[in-house]
Amino acid sequence: MTPVNPVGDGTYWTMAAKTDAQWVPVAVSADILAGTVVPARLPTGPIAVWRSATGNLYANGDRCPHRGMRLSHGFVRGETLSCIYHGWRFGTDGACQKIPAHPSVTPPKTINCGPLHVAETNGVVWAAAKEPAEPPQFYPGYEALRSLVIVSTPAAIAAATNATIIDGAIQTTLGGQDAVLLMSPQGPQEVFILVLARPNLNLADRLAVSSALEALRRSAEAVEGAA
Ligand code: FES
Repeated sequence: MTPVNPVGDGTYWTMAAKTDAQWVPVAVSADILAGTVVPARLPTGPIAVWRSATGNLYANGDRCPHRGMRLSHGFVRGETLSCIYHGWRFGTDGACQKIPAHPSVTPPKTINCGPLHVAETNGVVWAAAKEPAEPPQFYPGYEALRSLVIVSTPAAIAAATNATIIDGAIQTTLGGQDAVLLMSPQGPQEVFILVLARPNLNLADRLAVSSALEALRRSAEAVEGAA
């Protein structure tokens, strides 16, 4: 994987589509408590990200292999993820372990909800469909603050910050604080943004960053709307 340097190495990145074997930021780690599952997205489609009772992180395609219910609507029990529709239970390897309607049946290994690769750095959850060659980028001195979706394009977001996209990220100032915006396009007009800020900010500073981010969203959406 190409090394990522958000503070400028002269490599200008144009948000080219990532391969299946590249890390994509999908969630803030703190938003996924032990024993919970949340929906997220890779460029290839929706995923379910879940943290087991012991705190380990997993991700799967967000589609139950039985009748297609979203697994992100399901529930975590111990080290398994269960579908909310008919209760099929999946292990950490994605394999179905139990079919409640047929308790005496051992499910074949072919019933699998598609485990993905996950990692955490800087309080960011990263996912990849195929195993990347390197761990995800680490941003020294930053910690994940929050995420949001902007209905716009990476170019419009860069224009709204008056900054340049470098390796999929923008380094800027929000609310008077240093910030790095990790970007993951979700479609032609939608970008998932995960904001990194300095970890020692007090509440007022965190709120200032968050307010500035909302203002950025409005600005970027206005830029794109006017295009
Ligand atoms: S749709 Fe998931 S168990 Fe039936």
